[in-house]
Amino acid sequence: MDVTSKVSKAVKSAAAYNLEHFHQAWQRPELRRLMGNELLFPPSPRVISALVESLNQINYYPEDSGTHLRLREALAGYVGLAGRPDWITVGNGSMENIDMLPRTFIDEGDEILLPCPDYSPYTRRPQIFGAKVVDVTPDADFNYTLADFTAKVTPRTKMIILSRPNAPIGNMISRELLEDLCHLDCIVVVDEAYTEFSKQTVCDLVEKYDNLIISRTFSKAMGLGGIRLGFVVAQPAVIESINRVRVPINISLLTQVAAIAAVEDAEYIRANTLKVIENRESFIKSLRQIPGMQPIPSQGNFVMINCKKTRQPGKFFYDALLEAGYLVRCFDNARGLPGEGFFRVTIGTQQDIQGVLEVLHTQVVMSLTH
Ligand SMILES: Cc1ncc(COP(=O)(O)O)c(C=O)c1O
Repeated sequence: MDVTSKVSKAVKSAAAYNLEHFHQAWQRPELRRLMGNELLFPPSPRVISALVESLNQINYYPEDSGTHLRLREALAGYVGLAGRPDWITVGNGSMENIDMLPRTFIDEGDEILLPCPDYSPYTRRPQIFGAKVVDVTPDADFNYTLADFTAKVTPRTKMIILSRPNAPIGNMISRELLEDLCHLDCIVVVDEAYTEFSKQTVCDLVEKYDNLIISRTFSKAMGLGGIRLGFVVAQPAVIESINRVRVPINISLLTQVAAIAAVEDAEYIRANTLKVIENRESFIKSLRQIPGMQPIPSQGNFVMINCKKTRQPGKFFYDALLEAGYLVRCFDNARGLPGEGFFRVTIGTQQDIQGVLEVLHTQVVMSLTH
């Protein structure tokens, strides 16, 4: 039997997410990991000791609503909704949030509006559940107006998903535009994966809008990409619906323990976040001194660089950096980006950004003199 012929139509047309950059980083540990927007500082010592203490309990299932309740209480407090754990649910990384949300709301043929560019898994997961993806395109500076969205709304529009700050660009739609979107007759999902680095959140707006859903993660400012924890903030009726599709006991005991300890160490998160912001701003300033390098102002822990004016594709600088021991991400011809001439660098330590700047400077000088 040809089993593949039995695969659903939606899955046949689905593309798997390309995780090659993570594979490469693990295969070559000597490279600096500036490709995945991870935090490049070690986890809080309090997280590590909490994990060690809980190791002798991993023969037990974690509680789905007990420890889980403690975790949700901690998360609610962290986002300014203290005492309201029923406004929170959890995913195995925010990638699982992006799976659970369409699963909860999408019917075959529903349309989903996605800014272009934006985080690529948004295009894939909803399609598996039968959604049709409709691109919303910004102006040349990657800014949107309400009309850009309303022009694409139809009676089948069920959901808008966007990241704020935007991945991979790093800019943000305004709070005003976001509120305007919440007045449309659809679900608005805001992925705040990088929100700590922007010092802005719209979590408070979930009290005002029952169609607003926020996705957050422990993989960025919290520095815990390896524990795989995302969470969703929304009104209790929404959370209750999501919990009906959430895989039971989806969050491991170790993940729960680590996350509670991380939230309790707020000073550690704050200090790392500030270091990243400082390094990001000095990186952008120095990049502007390199002829042809046009960094796009960013509110995340990464900077997208437009290198078209150097007359080289992004791949040229990607290769040069790789050769020097820095793994970054090439965005030539990526969804929503005009052609070749883009690469993105995750903000690491001062030493990392200094090293990257030196390589870029040398390459630009060499290509100008040849
Ligand atoms: C906008 C955005 N959302 C979500 C994720 C994935 O996060 P997680 O590790 O929580 O699955 C990323 C990862 O880079 C991202 O850029």
